[in-house]
Amino acid sequence: MNNLEFNRRDFLKQASMAALVLPTLLSCESDSLARDPASDILSRIKRNAQARGAKGMGAIEVPANVTWRTPFDIKPDDGEQMIITGTVYKPDGKTPAPNTLIYFYHADKFGIYGREGQPKHGRFRGWMLTDEKGRYEFSSIRPASYPNSTQSQHVHMTVTGVDHKEDWIDSILFEGDKFLTVRERASAGKRGGFNPIVTLRPNADGIMTARRDIQLLTI
Ligand SMILES: [Fe+2]
Repeated sequence: MNNLEFNRRDFLKQASMAALVLPTLLSCESDSLARDPASDILSRIKRNAQARGAKGMGAIEVPANVTWRTPFDIKPDDGEQMIITGTVYKPDGKTPAPNTLIYFYHADKFGIYGREGQPKHGRFRGWMLTDEKGRYEFSSIRPASYPNSTQSQHVHMTVTGVDHKEDWIDSILFEGDKFLTVRERASAGKRGGFNPIVTLRPNADGIMTARRDIQLLTI
């Protein structure tokens, strides 16, 4: 057998093996892309984001590494620390709603949002993607009322799903806030269900903690 014959046979052998293996490799690659649930869920959620303002605050800015609770990032002089926990339920109010994105933001301990160099919504904001039990949790500080105002203390929240648009639900309000109005009490829970007026109580570590469950209006 001369070199030319060897090379021709070798080429044909390798080509036939490639013909067998290549579709399998391509199939594996497309399967792995299709089975990447986190990126698929986030891309579907982003399509349902209601971008507001020039910088599109809210669900549109969800980070790729979002989890069901925000990382702790509170400094001692930021204000009174608080932890908010809760479960997101489907419209029946009983079935947990996993993979629901929650965005929150609120003012700082002086009642101010974005300071110079900060995002428009300020430093105290975050995203959570509910886990298989529908749970979320974030650690932040209790916000103050706007400066020189009688606006009640509040935490803005939106919820977004893979199959429903971003929805601005009732803000979290605080029991004991002197600016909480009768009107706010009367309308509490109309968007987001349950009671958004929370009562902060110290947990085992002495950190003020409250629960705010959420009921989706649409699936
Ligand atoms: Fe506000």
